[in-house]
Amino acid sequence: MKKDFKRTLVTTALPYANGPVHIGHLAGVYVPADIYTRYLRLNGREVLMIGGSDEHGVPITIKARREGVTPQDIVDRYHSIIKESMSGLGISFDIYSRTTSDIHHEMASEFFRHLYEKGEFIERSSKQLYDEKAGQFLADRYVTGECPHCHNPRAYGDQCESCGTSLAPTDLINPRSALTDTVPVMRDTFHWYLPLDKWQDYLGKWILEGHKEWRPNVYGQCKSWLEMGLQPRAVSRDLDWGVPVPVEGADGKVLYVWFDAPIGYISNTRELLPDSWEKWWKDPETRIINFIGKDNIVFHCIVFPAMLSAYGDGYQLPDNVPANEFLNLEGDKISTSRNWAVWLHEYLEDFPGKQDVLRYVLTANAPETKDNDFTWADFQARNNNELVAILGNFVNRALVLTHKYFGGKVPAPSALQATDLDVLAEIRALKQSVADAIEGFHFRDALREAMNMARAGNKYLQETEPWKTAKTDMERTATILHTALQITASLAVVFEPFLPFMSEKLCRILGLTDLNWDMVGCGELLSAGSDIGEPELLFEKIEDAAVQAQVQKLLDAKKANAVAAWKPDPQASDVDIDTFGRCDLRVGTVLECERVPKADKLLRFLIDDGTGSPRTIVSGIAKYYDPEQLRGKQICFIANLPPRKLRGVESCGMILSAVSSDGSLVVIGPTGPVAPGSKVG
Ligand code: 2FM
Ligand code: ZN
Repeated sequence: MKKDFKRTLVTTALPYANGPVHIGHLAGVYVPADIYTRYLRLNGREVLMIGGSDEHGVPITIKARREGVTPQDIVDRYHSIIKESMSGLGISFDIYSRTTSDIHHEMASEFFRHLYEKGEFIERSSKQLYDEKAGQFLADRYVTGECPHCHNPRAYGDQCESCGTSLAPTDLINPRSALTDTVPVMRDTFHWYLPLDKWQDYLGKWILEGHKEWRPNVYGQCKSWLEMGLQPRAVSRDLDWGVPVPVEGADGKVLYVWFDAPIGYISNTRELLPDSWEKWWKDPETRIINFIGKDNIVFHCIVFPAMLSAYGDGYQLPDNVPANEFLNLEGDKISTSRNWAVWLHEYLEDFPGKQDVLRYVLTANAPETKDNDFTWADFQARNNNELVAILGNFVNRALVLTHKYFGGKVPAPSALQATDLDVLAEIRALKQSVADAIEGFHFRDALREAMNMARAGNKYLQETEPWKTAKTDMERTATILHTALQITASLAVVFEPFLPFMSEKLCRILGLTDLNWDMVGCGELLSAGSDIGEPELLFEKIEDAAVQAQVQKLLDAKKANAVAAWKPDPQASDVDIDTFGRCDLRVGTVLECERVPKADKLLRFLIDDGTGSPRTIVSGIAKYYDPEQLRGKQICFIANLPPRKLRGVESCGMILSAVSSDGSLVVIGPTGPVAPGSKVG
């Protein structure tokens, strides 16, 4: 860990521009990176936060092909949605650019060419999967098949999303082309490889000896890669979307997306600072921090550092790579393709003015050490029970009481008593805990300690009871509210990295400007006599209906997925005509239909079956029909099943029905009137 550094370069994983960003991206990368960067800025540190869209790679071309548009159309659409929504959430990038920019293409080409000329690549022939129908090689996600490790039947050619293993297309069992759903063949090709094995000892030493402070998930994953022994890795692909390989004889080949994307951090820095970008990458006094999700660890800790080391010229390796685990949603893995996600741009529309609530919940529940679950119930509870009831409540009481007793002016204190001194000391101690936690990349802990400041404020008001002292002792009341307002001002500053919208509002009310971290815990942030603006609620309760609507949205998505994925059951094995003929199918008319008492699922039917003595059938379809919907209708039933008792009612037969792709059930009957008792055949 660098102790002496002048500046910090914060990079954030570049999201693929094949869809909008969701809460998993935010919790994993952008919210923690933003907290960290804002904190450094508050401390007056020289810091840059670099972001951008990853616009190459197979996920983008697959999406374009499905929609019948060009890859450029796809990345243009999602780049602007992502950029705008990140800004809407207050993610304070110094630059958010894209890997289709000219400057990026130039830098990525130059990077490759330099390594090529230095002899840092090896060229290798190999057999790769080829789709004869589409006439192209099948790189990465163009192939799906069974994972050889966990046997997930829908693993991709670069990774199994079920067990997280990195794969090559040829590892898959029963591979199929994602383009044409045909079985690919093997065909000869060649590619350039970065010999990671050459960097094994260097990287092993750098990480295993030099970076024991990295998070256990990051360190552990690197250790296991290093123990398995690093292998050469292909850095080109047979594709037509990407940065063309800039050497002779490379027609039809582009740089592998994972070769060009991390160079995007450099090209985006250069785009922002054309004249001074190099100091951010090559000066040993720069500290580089890569915020990523756990699926990106190997690329940032092994592949990109090997690329930078091979390039030389002073490029610095990351000082830390705080990778988060994954955030699930309502107990299920977040998935772009299954639309099982809370999309940022939709959240901003559905919850206007509530950016900080999402930032708060995603930080309080951040998947820092293990996968975590986002639920709408937790979202509502954290807003109502924590933001409203703890932080909002304290600030509101301090502001309202100041207006009530002192006409909205900060009262002058008299001598502070032990309770006052204690709470101010507690705020200062908490400030240090927040700082230590942020600097150690423990953002959940940091937020909890910041909330403890608001808790300390509430406890202080509870103990000092200014609403009571106001009846007898205005001098003491002035001291209490003076102290409470100083705490309020500290909260406005300490929460700036976490809840920037709330902080801005509160600073406006308090008249606080030019924030810096040293202001937190300072006893005299607001001077006596200064004006306090009218109290405004910082947070408001989120009602049940708002979260129920979100849950319903997810249920609708789940249903739509099930319908899209539905296929009729495979045909059953043959039966001979005699066997079928023994099954006596008839038409009947429903005379009566009613629910069976104390049995949620059952309906009791009385059927006119043409015999003159109606038969009773009990059927488990009560959740699909109201009894009156079926009275008088004609239905088909199996007549010659042996009678059996259901909840004490003897059922003589079975009503025919069909379950559709969306799980709905329909009773089967004739399309025109038929005499009851007629045979079906
Ligand atoms: O996993 C992803 O979404 C990649 N697009 C991350 C790239 S990070 C960096 F290397 F650009
Ligand atoms: Zn797997």
